[in-house]
Amino acid sequence: MLPLRNIGIVLSVFFLLQCQQKEKSRPAVEITGKYQIPSACPGWVHNAVFYQIYPQSYYDTDGDGIGDLKGIIQKLDYIKSLGVDAIWLNPFFESPFCDAGYDISDYYKVAPRYGTNEDARKLFEEAHKRNLKVIFDYVISYTSVEHPWFKASSQQDTNKYTNWYIWTDNTWKNPPEAFKDCFIKGFGRRNGQYMRNFYWCQPALNFGFAKPEEPWMLPVDHPDVLALQEELKNVLRFWLDMGADGFRADMAGALVKNANITGNDQFFNARDEGTKLFWRKIRQLLIQEYPEAFMIAEWSYPKDALDGLFHADFFHWFDGYNDLFQKESWRILNGYSEGHSFFDQEGKGNITHFLKSYMEQYLATATKGYISLPLGNHDNARLGNKRTDDDLEIIYAFGLTMPGVPFIYYGNEIGMRQLGTDWPHVEGAYKPRNGARTPMQWSDEKNLGFSEASADKLYLPVDTAMDAPTVAAQENNPNSLLNRTRRLIALRHSEPALSAYAEFVPLFARENTYPFIYARAKDNDILFIFINPSDKQCSAEFTTNISCRELKLLAGNEITLKCEGNKIQAIMHGRHYAIYKVVL
Ligand code: NOJ
Repeated sequence: MLPLRNIGIVLSVFFLLQCQQKEKSRPAVEITGKYQIPSACPGWVHNAVFYQIYPQSYYDTDGDGIGDLKGIIQKLDYIKSLGVDAIWLNPFFESPFCDAGYDISDYYKVAPRYGTNEDARKLFEEAHKRNLKVIFDYVISYTSVEHPWFKASSQQDTNKYTNWYIWTDNTWKNPPEAFKDCFIKGFGRRNGQYMRNFYWCQPALNFGFAKPEEPWMLPVDHPDVLALQEELKNVLRFWLDMGADGFRADMAGALVKNANITGNDQFFNARDEGTKLFWRKIRQLLIQEYPEAFMIAEWSYPKDALDGLFHADFFHWFDGYNDLFQKESWRILNGYSEGHSFFDQEGKGNITHFLKSYMEQYLATATKGYISLPLGNHDNARLGNKRTDDDLEIIYAFGLTMPGVPFIYYGNEIGMRQLGTDWPHVEGAYKPRNGARTPMQWSDEKNLGFSEASADKLYLPVDTAMDAPTVAAQENNPNSLLNRTRRLIALRHSEPALSAYAEFVPLFARENTYPFIYARAKDNDILFIFINPSDKQCSAEFTTNISCRELKLLAGNEITLKCEGNKIQAIMHGRHYAIYKVVL
């Protein structure tokens, strides 16, 4: 009888042969090094890395427990030291803060808690001195209920603003089924119900209806709709004239209303030509008046958003993004999910789910503009959610070597953690958003260096863990996550093959299998990137059209590689990544 050990060997050889059989049938993957720069994008974007700042949580200079613009100015040298090129600031405008400032009550004024318009001007100026760009949040699919336009619109008498919001003409009659979740009854003196675009306190501005079916539904070219649009253009000019370098458009796909779309799509992608037409007008405005300004959408459907409208689109409201980072119910925003993230030590994720949707969008848009897979943001749980610094570095290696424009959420560079489910819900930040919006952790001083206020006055409590990561603790440690992130950002800038537009070719991506391997290439500059977030050793074999003399490690961990002509075999340890340069 064969001893058990031998049976194991026989089986392994059998499986290996099987695998090799299969390998033989796979055609070589072609890497061309060809690319086309999306010429419509401003030049500075092609290699840019962005840093996202949540103003209320970054740095408080006036001791009220809430971050402010002066605080951001004070930290610009730190931001510059990360190696990033640009900043995206979440809304800093006057607001009753029912949705953390996304509910704007004056488009032309900085909220007093953040400072003054003069501070904003100074922030743009100081950033520019350091060669940093700044984009703001252009939130125009709705306003706050406190906005004077809405107050006027809710009056019984007809006035200039009557049609600037969407109102039915009867308080008692239910709106058509397609819009049944979107209307609020009983506000003000006006007989009718108003449409919200998110929370109840965010009434939808009126961009018209794709197919008006009721007398109160205006067409997209109604004079009042067009008048509103002219005013919104002025808002844009106001901040760009002051010095902003572009904008992120909140809920950009949800302007014109469309009865064919229900559920959450109503708020994110109304799949509608009218919405596209509006953004094309804005694109024209930029071309004519601000050719260097950058526009990026919160749309999450690049095929639509990059169709002559935006320069880039955040691609994160889709299942593939969850497949990467937040497939578990305890990691995801709405708490309804089942499954396993690809980036998790347990190694049960599936990269092919993500890749299928990504490639579909990427191939259709690569010459038009950029896809951004954000490295965290204010709407999702932090990536540092039961992940170690090593796990995070692998995620950042992925994010900073993918095509498009990377965005890093403040604090992720030091591995700030997702905070508990018992954290207070503040300003519309229900879990897990609240646990991802806590104050930046600067040092081990009072309130982790964020503010001089007493702890009960803070916007959100700071991380209470004894080992909460801080900038001060990591600054001088070459092996800290902060410095590892800096090195990855620097690599992105120094390697031509990591330009936003350089070719992207998946090399090894199998169902429920690790690692994930891909190439980036620009002419003869070629990189192979190996990603294994699972805690298990894994191996891969793939064939390309390139025969490499040598592979030179640029970042990450050395892996066992065998190159035979065009064929590469790799064995890598668990929780490792590697970025190799191909020497031809
Ligand atoms: C998207 C923003 O990112 C989010 O924070 C906000 O709550 C919704 N838009 C509604 O404004």
